[in-house]
Amino acid sequence: MKNTIIWFLIYVALIFLSGGCSIEAKSKKHRKMAAPIVSYGGAVDASSTSTTFNVLQYGAKGDGIADDTKAFESAWADSCKVQGSVMLVPSGSVFLVKPITFSGPNCQPNIVFQLDGKIIAPKNAGAWGSGLLQWLNFSKLKGITIKGGGVIDGQGSVWWNEQNPTDDDQNWIQADSKGGMPSTKPTALRFYGSTDVTVTGITIQNSPQTHLKFDDCIGVQVFGISISSPGNSPNTDGIHLQNTRDVVIHTTSLACGDDCISIQTGCSGVYIHNVNCGPGHGISIGGLGKDGTKACVSNITVRDSTMHNTMAGVRIKTWQGGSGSVQGVMFSNIQVSEVETPIIIDQYYCNGHNCPNKTSAVAISDVFYQSIKGTYTTNPIQFACSDSTPCAGITLSTINLVPSTNVRNDVPFCWKAFGEIKTTTTPPISCLQTGASSHKRQPSSYGGSC
Ligand SMILES: *[C@@H]1O[C@H](CO)[C@@H](O)[C@H](O)[C@H]1NC(C)=O
Ligand SMILES: *[C@@H]1O[C@H](CO)[C@@H](O)[C@H](O)[C@H]1NC(C)=O
Ligand SMILES: *[C@@H]1O[C@H](CO)[C@@H](O)[C@H](O)[C@H]1NC(C)=O
Repeated sequence: MKNTIIWFLIYVALIFLSGGCSIEAKSKKHRKMAAPIVSYGGAVDASSTSTTFNVLQYGAKGDGIADDTKAFESAWADSCKVQGSVMLVPSGSVFLVKPITFSGPNCQPNIVFQLDGKIIAPKNAGAWGSGLLQWLNFSKLKGITIKGGGVIDGQGSVWWNEQNPTDDDQNWIQADSKGGMPSTKPTALRFYGSTDVTVTGITIQNSPQTHLKFDDCIGVQVFGISISSPGNSPNTDGIHLQNTRDVVIHTTSLACGDDCISIQTGCSGVYIHNVNCGPGHGISIGGLGKDGTKACVSNITVRDSTMHNTMAGVRIKTWQGGSGSVQGVMFSNIQVSEVETPIIIDQYYCNGHNCPNKTSAVAISDVFYQSIKGTYTTNPIQFACSDSTPCAGITLSTINLVPSTNVRNDVPFCWKAFGEIKTTTTPPISCLQTGASSHKRQPSSYGGSC
């Protein structure tokens, strides 16, 4: 008798609970999933409390066909309101997302975009209007992290015109593309005007153009990511930095059709280490000073990295006619293999345009090359410095570059390049001029204006 009553009570409780659960589930469907995480060992501080907003809870289908843009926008709108929130893109699904802005000026700080699934870009021209500069646009955030094991796929093949792969920095975005796509090709993932940005874990692949771009950002950490697109995909830079400072990029592999990392004007305090580059065009500062513009780049370090099958190894390139300066660059412990030209300074960068000689240039000084080793296929070293503003303070030590078979030119080239050689080198470098450059530098043309 006692048992019957107990079983009856359990039965009633179960019905009540299951009913309650299904009502709860229904009402939760379009609501946030709250999952407070309390830190161990003492006080619960606000920053350790996180709230998760899963795009599936906002109606995303995740089948790779349905348009999930609205669900992402709604999930972002809610994530934005909560400090330290997590916007979750779960694994096991493919989300088709149109060009979207994750706009931050009114958001709480320290949002995490947890990317475990895959996000793909639309392939139909209609989704891009008359052309956009980026696909996934993170803007004006304070503390934004993208992490996880997920993938961002730009489905770039519909944009690539294999006939015109160029090595350009600015013109590419207007290059012809096929398949009726707009002429302006988008960057896959772009951060603008943000501070404390972290990107880790994810893979970014097949961008129509640059894969990952930081513009006007302060405090950037990129590590443990992978970037990949075919070596013949045009203008697909790996990581592009512009007007951005305090950057660390490490433990990352970059394979693409243009510069693995491109450092543009306004960058300083950039530390790159333990990256693998190739295929691609190498790691590059510039092209700077195009169309008479002023460029300022300083305090750049690239070390403990490898380049395989790339066009350049470490390169600084400037257009004639610019102003400003590149100051304080360290390339250290770079292992190259089958690289066309491992060490390049090119102040006559022209990229197929008709470039007349000009009488000003972005000044280049204090560039250290230390322990650059491996094989090249075209030319070991090329310093083509400006007549008007020769390179000053180039220092080389422990250079060991040997030709692969059938190399035509194994003699280093220098023009208006001043500096010093600290050790014996392979090949010997006899073309570097010692001492200070005879050029009288105007403070305004030599860093003074930066
Ligand atoms: C990217 O975000 C910024 C800031 O919100 C905005 O001004 C810009 O128009 C956005 N770009 C696109 C293509 O939506
Ligand atoms: C140079 O940049 C590094 C980061 O790469 C930074 O730690 C250092 O303080 C910077 N030095 C100067 C003089 O700005
Ligand atoms: C430009 O300057 C370079 C280096 O001085 C020289 O070799 C080249 O002939 C010049 N080109 C023209 C078109 O004057």
